[in-house]
Amino acid sequence: MRRALKLAAHGRGWVNPNPLVGAVLIKDGKLISEGFHQRYGGPHAEAVVLEKAGSEARGADLYANVEPCVSHPGKRTPPCADQIIQSGVRRVFVAMRDPDTHVNGRGIAQLRAAGIDVQESILAAEAQKLNEISVKYKTTGKPFVLLKMAMSADGKIATRTGNSKYISSPDSLRYAHELRDRYTALLVGIGTVLADDPQLNTRLDCPGHDPVRVLLDAQGRLPLEAKLLQSKSSAKTILATTDALSKAKEEALLHRGVEIWKLPIVTNNIGAQHAAPLQSGQIDLHELADRLGKAGLDSLLVEGGSTVTASFLQTGLVDKITFVIAPMLIGGQTAPSPIGGLGIEKIEDAFRLKDISLRALGQDIVYEAYLDYTGLEDSS
Ligand SMILES: NC(=O)c1ccc[n+]([C@@H]2O[C@H](COP(=O)([O-])OP(=O)(O)OC[C@H]3O[C@@H](n4cnc5c(N)ncnc54)[C@H](OP(=O)(O)O)[C@@H]3O)[C@@H](O)[C@H]2O)c1
Repeated sequence: MRRALKLAAHGRGWVNPNPLVGAVLIKDGKLISEGFHQRYGGPHAEAVVLEKAGSEARGADLYANVEPCVSHPGKRTPPCADQIIQSGVRRVFVAMRDPDTHVNGRGIAQLRAAGIDVQESILAAEAQKLNEISVKYKTTGKPFVLLKMAMSADGKIATRTGNSKYISSPDSLRYAHELRDRYTALLVGIGTVLADDPQLNTRLDCPGHDPVRVLLDAQGRLPLEAKLLQSKSSAKTILATTDALSKAKEEALLHRGVEIWKLPIVTNNIGAQHAAPLQSGQIDLHELADRLGKAGLDSLLVEGGSTVTASFLQTGLVDKITFVIAPMLIGGQTAPSPIGGLGIEKIEDAFRLKDISLRALGQDIVYEAYLDYTGLEDSS
Protein backbone atom coordinates (compact mmCIF):
# COMPACT_ATOMS: atom_id res chain seq x y z
CA MET A 1 0.00 0.00 0.00
CA ARG A 2 2.91 2.32 0.69
CA ARG A 3 4.05 1.74 -2.89
CA ALA A 4 0.52 2.46 -4.19
CA LEU A 5 0.46 5.76 -2.24
CA LYS A 6 3.89 6.71 -3.62
CA LEU A 7 2.81 5.96 -7.18
CA ALA A 8 -0.45 7.86 -6.70
CA ALA A 9 1.47 11.03 -5.77
CA HIS A 10 2.94 11.17 -9.30
CA GLY A 11 -0.49 12.29 -10.52
CA ARG A 12 -0.33 15.56 -8.51
CA GLY A 13 -1.49 18.48 -10.58
CA TRP A 14 -2.61 16.27 -13.48
CA VAL A 15 -5.75 14.49 -12.28
CA ASN A 16 -7.82 17.18 -10.48
CA PRO A 17 -10.65 17.01 -9.61
CA ASN A 18 -10.17 13.23 -9.49
CA PRO A 19 -8.36 11.68 -6.52
CA LEU A 20 -4.71 10.60 -6.73
CA VAL A 21 -4.72 6.82 -7.14
CA GLY A 22 -1.93 4.25 -7.40
CA ALA A 23 -2.28 0.47 -7.69
CA VAL A 24 -0.03 -2.55 -7.28
CA LEU A 25 -0.75 -6.16 -8.27
CA ILE A 26 1.02 -8.93 -6.33
CA LYS A 27 0.93 -12.72 -6.86
CA ASP A 28 2.81 -15.36 -4.89
CA GLY A 29 4.84 -12.61 -3.24
CA LYS A 30 5.95 -11.18 -6.60
CA LEU A 31 5.16 -7.83 -8.19
CA ILE A 32 3.07 -8.44 -11.32
CA SER A 33 2.39 -4.82 -12.29
CA GLU A 34 2.02 -1.32 -10.89
CA GLY A 35 0.67 2.01 -12.12
CA PHE A 36 -1.21 5.19 -11.32
CA HIS A 37 -3.91 7.51 -12.62
CA GLN A 38 -1.83 9.81 -14.80
CA ARG A 39 -4.24 12.45 -16.04
CA TYR A 40 -7.85 13.51 -15.79
CA GLY A 41 -9.94 11.55 -18.31
CA GLY A 42 -7.17 8.93 -18.70
CA PRO A 43 -7.30 5.31 -17.49
CA HIS A 44 -7.62 4.73 -13.75
CA ALA A 45 -4.78 3.10 -11.80
CA GLU A 46 -6.58 -0.26 -11.48
CA ALA A 47 -7.22 -0.38 -15.25
CA VAL A 48 -3.54 0.37 -15.90
CA VAL A 49 -2.27 -2.50 -13.73
CA LEU A 50 -4.86 -4.99 -15.02
CA GLU A 51 -4.02 -4.11 -18.62
CA LYS A 52 -0.29 -4.57 -17.96
CA ALA A 53 -0.86 -7.87 -16.13
CA GLY A 54 -3.22 -9.50 -18.67
CA SER A 55 -4.04 -13.10 -17.67
CA GLU A 56 -1.47 -12.89 -14.84
CA ALA A 57 -4.05 -10.93 -12.84
CA ARG A 58 -6.07 -14.09 -12.17
CA GLY A 59 -5.63 -15.10 -8.52
CA ALA A 60 -3.54 -11.98 -7.69
CA ASP A 61 -3.93 -9.43 -4.87
CA LEU A 62 -4.68 -5.84 -5.83
CA TYR A 63 -3.63 -2.90 -3.64
CA ALA A 64 -5.19 0.49 -4.39
CA ASN A 65 -5.18 3.58 -2.16
CA VAL A 66 -8.76 4.52 -3.12
CA GLU A 67 -11.67 2.12 -3.50
CA PRO A 68 -12.37 1.10 -7.14
CA CYS A 69 -15.04 3.12 -8.91
CA VAL A 70 -18.47 1.93 -10.07
CA SER A 71 -20.70 2.90 -12.95
CA HIS A 72 -22.57 6.21 -12.46
CA PRO A 73 -24.05 8.95 -14.66
CA GLY A 74 -21.48 11.25 -16.24
CA LYS A 75 -18.62 8.81 -15.76
CA ARG A 76 -15.88 9.16 -18.40
CA THR A 77 -13.97 5.88 -17.97
CA PRO A 78 -15.11 2.20 -17.68
CA PRO A 79 -15.90 1.27 -14.03
CA CYS A 80 -12.90 -0.36 -12.33
CA ALA A 81 -14.98 -2.66 -10.10
CA ASP A 82 -16.34 -4.44 -13.24
CA GLN A 83 -12.84 -4.81 -14.67
CA ILE A 84 -11.48 -6.23 -11.40
CA ILE A 85 -14.27 -8.81 -11.21
CA GLN A 86 -13.68 -9.86 -14.82
CA SER A 87 -9.91 -10.14 -14.30
CA GLY A 88 -10.20 -12.90 -11.66
CA VAL A 89 -8.31 -10.92 -8.97
CA ARG A 90 -8.58 -12.85 -5.67
CA ARG A 91 -8.28 -10.18 -2.99
CA VAL A 92 -8.46 -6.37 -2.96
CA PHE A 93 -6.85 -4.09 -0.32
CA VAL A 94 -7.91 -0.44 -0.18
CA ALA A 95 -6.71 2.42 1.97
CA MET A 96 -9.85 4.60 1.88
CA ARG A 97 -13.32 4.81 0.42
CA ASP A 98 -13.87 7.08 -2.56
CA PRO A 99 -15.19 10.39 -1.17
CA ASP A 100 -17.24 10.84 -4.35
CA THR A 101 -20.86 10.43 -3.25
CA HIS A 102 -21.54 8.40 -6.44
CA VAL A 103 -19.11 5.72 -5.23
CA ASN A 104 -18.47 5.94 -1.44
CA GLY A 105 -18.57 2.26 -0.48
CA ARG A 106 -20.40 1.01 -3.57
CA GLY A 107 -17.17 -0.17 -5.22
CA ILE A 108 -16.27 -2.25 -2.17
CA ALA A 109 -19.83 -3.63 -1.93
CA GLN A 110 -19.82 -4.64 -5.62
CA LEU A 111 -16.51 -6.50 -5.26
CA ARG A 112 -17.70 -8.29 -2.12
CA ALA A 113 -20.99 -9.26 -3.81
CA ALA A 114 -18.90 -10.87 -6.56
CA GLY A 115 -17.10 -13.00 -3.93
CA ILE A 116 -13.85 -10.98 -3.79
CA ASP A 117 -12.24 -10.64 -0.35
CA VAL A 118 -11.89 -6.86 0.30
CA GLN A 119 -9.97 -5.35 3.20
CA GLU A 120 -10.16 -1.60 3.79
CA SER A 121 -8.63 1.20 5.92
CA ILE A 122 -5.03 0.15 5.32
CA LEU A 123 -2.77 3.21 5.90
CA ALA A 124 -6.02 5.18 5.99
CA ALA A 125 -4.55 8.34 7.60
CA GLU A 126 -1.78 8.63 5.00
CA ALA A 127 -4.31 8.01 2.22
CA GLN A 128 -6.70 10.73 3.52
CA LYS A 129 -3.81 13.22 3.72
CA LEU A 130 -2.58 12.44 0.22
CA ASN A 131 -6.07 13.09 -1.12
CA GLU A 132 -7.01 15.96 1.21
CA ILE A 133 -7.97 18.14 -1.77
CA SER A 134 -10.25 15.54 -3.30
CA VAL A 135 -11.86 14.66 0.06
CA LYS A 136 -12.74 18.32 0.79
CA TYR A 137 -13.99 19.05 -2.72
CA LYS A 138 -16.05 15.89 -3.19
CA THR A 139 -17.70 16.19 0.21
CA THR A 140 -18.42 19.96 0.27
CA GLY A 141 -18.32 21.15 -3.36
CA LYS A 142 -15.91 23.89 -2.23
CA PRO A 143 -12.21 24.07 -3.02
CA PHE A 144 -9.59 23.00 -0.49
CA VAL A 145 -7.94 26.27 0.62
CA LEU A 146 -4.26 26.60 1.48
CA LEU A 147 -2.84 29.90 2.79
CA LYS A 148 0.82 30.14 1.82
CA MET A 149 3.08 32.96 2.94
CA ALA A 150 6.81 33.61 3.16
CA MET A 151 8.01 35.51 6.21
CA SER A 152 11.11 36.58 8.10
CA ALA A 153 12.04 34.93 11.42
CA ASP A 154 10.43 37.93 13.15
CA GLY A 155 7.13 37.30 11.36
CA LYS A 156 7.11 39.97 8.62
CA ILE A 157 5.93 39.31 5.04
CA ALA A 158 7.30 42.58 3.63
CA THR A 159 9.25 45.63 4.76
CA ARG A 160 7.49 48.81 5.92
CA THR A 161 7.73 50.06 2.31
CA GLY A 162 5.97 46.93 0.96
CA ASN A 163 9.11 45.30 -0.49
CA SER A 164 8.98 41.46 -0.27
CA LYS A 165 11.12 40.13 -3.12
CA TYR A 166 12.43 37.67 -2.18
CA ILE A 167 12.10 36.67 1.44
CA SER A 168 12.39 32.94 0.78
CA SER A 169 15.40 31.06 -0.57
CA PRO A 170 15.63 29.55 -4.10
CA ASP A 171 14.68 26.12 -2.65
CA SER A 172 11.54 27.56 -1.08
CA LEU A 173 10.69 29.45 -4.26
CA ARG A 174 10.84 26.15 -6.14
CA TYR A 175 8.48 24.65 -3.55
CA ALA A 176 6.12 27.61 -4.04
CA HIS A 177 6.03 26.84 -7.76
CA GLU A 178 5.42 23.14 -7.05
CA LEU A 179 2.37 24.20 -5.03
CA ARG A 180 1.16 26.33 -7.93
CA ASP A 181 1.56 23.27 -10.14
CA ARG A 182 -0.59 21.16 -7.77
CA TYR A 183 -3.39 23.63 -7.05
CA THR A 184 -6.00 24.37 -9.70
CA ALA A 185 -6.46 28.03 -8.71
CA LEU A 186 -4.21 30.72 -7.24
CA LEU A 187 -5.59 33.83 -5.54
CA VAL A 188 -4.09 37.17 -4.50
CA GLY A 189 -5.51 40.55 -3.51
CA ILE A 190 -5.15 43.70 -5.57
CA GLY A 191 -2.76 45.08 -2.90
CA THR A 192 -0.23 42.38 -3.81
CA VAL A 193 -0.58 43.03 -7.54
CA LEU A 194 -0.07 46.77 -7.05
CA ALA A 195 2.96 46.18 -4.79
CA ASP A 196 4.71 43.29 -6.57
CA ASP A 197 3.26 43.05 -10.11
CA PRO A 198 3.50 39.22 -10.03
CA GLN A 199 3.09 36.93 -13.06
CA LEU A 200 1.21 34.30 -11.02
CA ASN A 201 2.29 31.41 -13.22
CA THR A 202 4.24 28.19 -12.59
CA ARG A 203 7.94 28.29 -13.28
CA LEU A 204 9.60 24.87 -12.81
CA ASP A 205 12.47 23.08 -14.58
CA CYS A 206 10.03 20.40 -15.78
CA PRO A 207 6.65 20.98 -17.50
CA GLY A 208 4.02 22.15 -15.00
CA HIS A 209 0.54 23.64 -14.95
CA ASP A 210 -0.34 27.25 -14.50
CA PRO A 211 -3.20 27.56 -12.04
CA VAL A 212 -6.27 29.61 -12.88
CA ARG A 213 -5.44 33.09 -11.54
CA VAL A 214 -8.02 34.72 -9.31
CA LEU A 215 -7.65 38.36 -8.35
CA LEU A 216 -9.74 39.97 -5.57
CA ASP A 217 -10.28 43.52 -6.80
CA ALA A 218 -13.61 45.03 -5.73
CA GLN A 219 -13.02 48.45 -7.34
CA GLY A 220 -11.30 47.32 -10.55
CA ARG A 221 -7.93 48.88 -9.69
CA LEU A 222 -5.98 46.30 -11.75
CA PRO A 223 -3.65 48.20 -14.14
CA LEU A 224 -4.04 47.11 -17.76
CA GLU A 225 -0.25 46.85 -18.05
CA ALA A 226 0.00 44.38 -15.09
CA LYS A 227 2.32 41.44 -15.84
CA LEU A 228 -0.39 38.90 -15.11
CA LEU A 229 -2.36 40.27 -18.07
CA GLN A 230 0.62 39.95 -20.42
CA SER A 231 1.03 36.23 -19.73
CA LYS A 232 1.00 33.75 -22.63
CA SER A 233 -0.42 31.10 -20.28
CA SER A 234 -3.40 29.01 -21.38
CA ALA A 235 -4.76 29.24 -17.80
CA LYS A 236 -7.46 31.83 -17.50
CA THR A 237 -7.56 34.88 -15.27
CA ILE A 238 -10.67 35.60 -13.20
CA LEU A 239 -11.26 39.09 -11.83
CA ALA A 240 -13.41 38.71 -8.72
CA THR A 241 -14.97 42.14 -8.51
CA THR A 242 -18.20 44.05 -7.86
CA ASP A 243 -20.57 46.43 -9.64
CA ALA A 244 -18.04 49.18 -8.81
CA LEU A 245 -15.96 48.05 -11.83
CA SER A 246 -16.26 50.71 -14.53
CA LYS A 247 -17.75 49.75 -17.90
CA ALA A 248 -14.63 50.93 -19.76
CA LYS A 249 -12.32 48.84 -17.55
CA GLU A 250 -14.60 45.84 -17.87
CA GLU A 251 -14.49 46.04 -21.66
CA ALA A 252 -10.71 46.48 -21.70
CA LEU A 253 -10.26 43.43 -19.43
CA LEU A 254 -12.72 41.29 -21.41
CA HIS A 255 -10.76 42.25 -24.54
CA ARG A 256 -7.62 40.85 -22.82
CA GLY A 257 -9.43 37.54 -22.15
CA VAL A 258 -10.11 38.13 -18.45
CA GLU A 259 -13.22 36.48 -17.02
CA ILE A 260 -15.19 38.95 -14.92
CA TRP A 261 -17.08 37.63 -11.90
CA LYS A 262 -19.25 40.27 -10.28
CA LEU A 263 -19.82 39.14 -6.72
CA PRO A 264 -21.82 40.53 -3.81
CA ILE A 265 -20.09 42.43 -1.07
CA VAL A 266 -20.38 41.56 2.60
CA THR A 267 -22.97 43.81 4.18
CA ASN A 268 -23.11 42.33 7.66
CA ASN A 269 -20.74 40.54 9.98
CA ILE A 270 -20.85 37.08 8.48
CA GLY A 271 -18.14 34.78 9.67
CA ALA A 272 -18.41 36.26 13.16
CA GLN A 273 -17.56 32.86 14.60
CA HIS A 274 -14.43 34.60 15.86
CA ALA A 275 -14.10 37.84 17.72
CA ALA A 276 -12.92 39.72 14.61
CA PRO A 277 -15.79 39.90 12.14
CA LEU A 278 -15.30 40.00 8.38
CA GLN A 279 -15.31 43.63 7.38
CA SER A 280 -18.28 44.87 5.45
CA GLY A 281 -17.61 46.26 2.00
CA GLN A 282 -15.39 43.35 0.96
CA ILE A 283 -16.12 40.70 -1.62
CA ASP A 284 -18.13 37.78 -0.20
CA LEU A 285 -15.61 34.95 -0.13
CA HIS A 286 -18.25 32.26 0.50
CA GLU A 287 -19.89 33.19 -2.79
CA LEU A 288 -16.52 33.13 -4.49
CA ALA A 289 -15.66 29.69 -3.06
CA ASP A 290 -19.04 28.29 -4.14
CA ARG A 291 -18.54 29.64 -7.61
CA LEU A 292 -14.99 28.29 -7.90
CA GLY A 293 -16.28 24.88 -6.81
CA LYS A 294 -19.07 24.95 -9.39
CA ALA A 295 -16.46 25.81 -12.04
CA GLY A 296 -14.70 22.50 -11.19
CA LEU A 297 -11.78 24.14 -9.34
CA ASP A 298 -11.05 21.78 -6.45
CA SER A 299 -8.20 23.66 -4.78
CA LEU A 300 -7.26 27.25 -4.07
CA LEU A 301 -3.80 28.47 -3.14
CA VAL A 302 -4.08 31.85 -1.40
CA GLU A 303 -0.77 33.71 -1.66
CA GLY A 304 -1.77 36.92 0.11
CA GLY A 305 -1.36 39.62 1.04
CA SER A 306 -2.20 40.01 4.67
CA THR A 307 -5.57 41.75 4.16
CA VAL A 308 -6.75 38.84 2.04
CA THR A 309 -5.41 36.13 4.36
CA ALA A 310 -7.25 37.78 7.28
CA SER A 311 -10.51 37.74 5.34
CA PHE A 312 -10.11 34.10 4.39
CA LEU A 313 -9.41 33.11 7.98
CA GLN A 314 -12.43 35.00 9.26
CA THR A 315 -14.74 33.21 6.82
CA GLY A 316 -13.68 29.79 8.10
CA LEU A 317 -12.81 28.73 4.55
CA VAL A 318 -9.13 27.94 5.22
CA ASP A 319 -8.14 24.29 5.50
CA LYS A 320 -4.36 24.50 5.79
CA ILE A 321 -1.50 26.97 6.18
CA THR A 322 2.05 26.80 4.88
CA PHE A 323 4.44 29.40 6.29
CA VAL A 324 7.95 29.53 4.90
CA ILE A 325 10.18 31.13 7.54
CA ALA A 326 13.41 32.66 6.27
CA PRO A 327 16.56 33.33 8.33
CA MET A 328 16.28 37.12 8.32
CA LEU A 329 14.90 39.86 10.55
CA ILE A 330 12.91 42.73 9.02
CA GLY A 331 11.49 44.63 11.99
CA GLY A 332 9.32 47.73 11.92
CA GLN A 333 5.96 48.26 13.60
CA THR A 334 4.23 48.96 10.28
CA ALA A 335 5.83 46.10 8.33
CA PRO A 336 3.00 43.58 7.70
CA SER A 337 2.71 40.13 9.24
CA PRO A 338 1.06 37.15 7.45
CA ILE A 339 -2.42 37.82 8.83
CA GLY A 340 -3.61 41.43 8.82
CA GLY A 341 -7.11 42.74 9.48
CA LEU A 342 -8.27 43.68 12.97
CA GLY A 343 -7.04 40.50 14.60
CA ILE A 344 -8.65 39.02 17.67
CA GLU A 345 -9.09 40.61 21.09
CA LYS A 346 -8.56 37.65 23.39
CA ILE A 347 -6.18 34.71 23.15
CA GLU A 348 -9.08 32.34 23.83
CA ASP A 349 -10.48 33.44 20.44
CA ALA A 350 -7.31 32.54 18.52
CA PHE A 351 -7.60 30.30 15.48
CA ARG A 352 -6.33 26.90 16.58
CA LEU A 353 -3.96 24.77 14.52
CA LYS A 354 -3.49 21.00 14.53
CA ASP A 355 -1.45 18.28 12.78
CA ILE A 356 1.59 20.54 12.70
CA SER A 357 4.70 19.64 10.74
CA LEU A 358 8.03 21.36 10.48
CA ARG A 359 10.82 20.75 8.01
CA ALA A 360 13.95 22.42 6.73
CA LEU A 361 14.07 23.55 3.13
CA GLY A 362 17.47 24.93 2.22
CA GLN A 363 18.05 27.62 4.86
CA ASP A 364 14.31 28.12 5.45
CA ILE A 365 11.83 26.33 7.72
CA VAL A 366 8.48 25.18 6.33
CA TYR A 367 5.72 25.24 8.96
CA GLU A 368 2.54 23.44 7.90
CA ALA A 369 -0.66 23.00 9.89
CA TYR A 370 -4.40 22.49 9.53
CA LEU A 371 -7.09 24.75 10.94
CA ASP A 372 -8.91 23.18 13.87
CA TYR A 373 -12.54 24.25 13.78
CA THR A 374 -13.73 21.76 16.37
CA GLY A 375 -15.91 23.33 19.03
CA LEU A 376 -16.61 26.47 17.02
CA GLU A 377 -20.15 27.41 16.16
CA ASP A 378 -20.71 28.00 12.47
CA SER A 379 -22.65 31.24 12.53
CA SER A 380 -22.17 31.98 8.81
N1 LIG B 1 5.77 37.38 1.82
C1 LIG B 1 4.70 36.90 1.19
O1 LIG B 1 4.49 35.68 1.12
C2 LIG B 1 3.76 37.87 0.54
C3 LIG B 1 2.75 37.36 -0.28
C4 LIG B 1 1.84 38.25 -0.84
C5 LIG B 1 1.94 39.60 -0.59
N2 LIG B 1 2.94 40.07 0.19
C6 LIG B 1 3.06 41.49 0.48
O2 LIG B 1 1.82 41.93 1.04
C7 LIG B 1 1.59 43.27 0.67
C8 LIG B 1 0.17 43.39 0.08
O3 LIG B 1 -0.78 43.03 1.05
P1 LIG B 1 -2.07 43.94 1.32
O4 LIG B 1 -2.66 43.49 2.59
O5 LIG B 1 -1.70 45.34 1.14
O6 LIG B 1 -3.00 43.61 0.07
P2 LIG B 1 -3.76 42.29 -0.40
O7 LIG B 1 -4.15 41.47 0.77
O8 LIG B 1 -2.96 41.65 -1.48
O9 LIG B 1 -5.05 42.93 -1.09
C9 LIG B 1 -6.01 43.54 -0.29
C10 LIG B 1 -7.08 44.18 -1.12
O10 LIG B 1 -7.85 43.19 -1.81
C11 LIG B 1 -9.16 43.70 -2.02
N3 LIG B 1 -10.20 42.79 -1.58
C12 LIG B 1 -11.35 42.55 -2.24
N4 LIG B 1 -12.11 41.70 -1.58
C13 LIG B 1 -11.46 41.39 -0.45
C14 LIG B 1 -11.78 40.56 0.63
N5 LIG B 1 -12.90 39.83 0.70
N6 LIG B 1 -10.90 40.50 1.63
C15 LIG B 1 -9.75 41.18 1.61
N7 LIG B 1 -9.38 41.98 0.59
C16 LIG B 1 -10.25 42.09 -0.44
C17 LIG B 1 -9.27 45.02 -1.21
O11 LIG B 1 -9.08 46.10 -2.12
P3 LIG B 1 -10.36 46.67 -2.90
O12 LIG B 1 -11.37 47.06 -1.85
O13 LIG B 1 -9.86 47.78 -3.71
O14 LIG B 1 -10.87 45.53 -3.73
C18 LIG B 1 -8.08 44.92 -0.30
O15 LIG B 1 -7.59 46.17 0.09
C19 LIG B 1 2.67 43.64 -0.32
O16 LIG B 1 3.66 44.38 0.35
C20 LIG B 1 3.22 42.32 -0.76
O17 LIG B 1 4.59 42.42 -1.13
C21 LIG B 1 3.85 39.22 0.77
